[in-house]
Amino acid sequence: MKPKVYVTRRVPDAGLDKVLAACEAEVWEGDLPVPREVLLEKVADAEGLYSLLTERVDGELLDAAPRLRVVSNYAVGFNNIDVAACTARGIPVGNTPGVLTDTTADFAFALLMAAARRIPEAAAYVEAGKWKTWGPKLLLGADIFGATLGIVGFGRIGQAVARRARGFNMRVLCYDPFVTQIDPAIGALVPLDRLLSDSDFVTVHVPLTDETHHLIGAAELAQMRPTAVLINTARGPVVDPDALFDALTTGGITSAALDVTEPEPIPADHRLVGLPNCLIAPHIASGSIATRDKMAVIAAENLLAGLAGDRLPHCVNPEVYGK
Ligand code: DGY
Repeated sequence: MKPKVYVTRRVPDAGLDKVLAACEAEVWEGDLPVPREVLLEKVADAEGLYSLLTERVDGELLDAAPRLRVVSNYAVGFNNIDVAACTARGIPVGNTPGVLTDTTADFAFALLMAAARRIPEAAAYVEAGKWKTWGPKLLLGADIFGATLGIVGFGRIGQAVARRARGFNMRVLCYDPFVTQIDPAIGALVPLDRLLSDSDFVTVHVPLTDETHHLIGAAELAQMRPTAVLINTARGPVVDPDALFDALTTGGITSAALDVTEPEPIPADHRLVGLPNCLIAPHIASGSIATRDKMAVIAAENLLAGLAGDRLPHCVNPEVYGK
């Protein structure tokens, strides 16, 4: 008998086909996340859960899923999952590291460049029929080459952003409490306050944890240069949205470019959305066709390994294996 699995969205076929071939799988076909009450019902007899970052996998869900043997998240981040609750029940949790590193770093850099050179404002200007002539002071922005880039969080994605910065001859400052040294050819490891005060661009690449919630708040924004640009492709709640609004509207910093928000999705009438100096994308930094295929495959492989009783290729709670 094939194991029963619930898949919370139609992920790319590259991964979904593997799951459908090996499991008795049900897929939530909606474009919006599966409603919580439906999810709780669907996991009642599921042995595997293939989840997205839009699903909260917590004690309540695990209690509703007594047969669950593996949770496989279609994301590298797993702040939607109560990992301790899974571990307490001996359930391994999988994620998709590595394959989205460069795609996400590309997008962080795209946001940086778009904000620095005011590309969305420029496009809106043309679309609104305002372009009447070439202007010596029209939509002037900031130079990227030679500028100082502050990278908050120097894990895989932060390092990939640093590699891109070299091509722009940028000076790179990094803050990461878990990193003790970095190659001086790549950048300098500095305390957060120094990074904030010395950077023209600050880009955030930390996971969302209790420690990183609102890591960039009013005090940190106040340390940034009035000319600075903030980029967030990590998780929305790492940046305090109220403090960010204040900084953007009082000249505290020049602009922000966000792929992630708090709340997420951010409502169209949220006060950050209408600001010309706040560029917001709908959490698509890992969204290249090839990368989403690879994520789907890795998540499928994690799921199938867990169902087979094998160690997950990418497990965020290896302590379930007793080592
Ligand atoms: C992740 O993987 O954590 C991203 O936010 C979505 O790809």
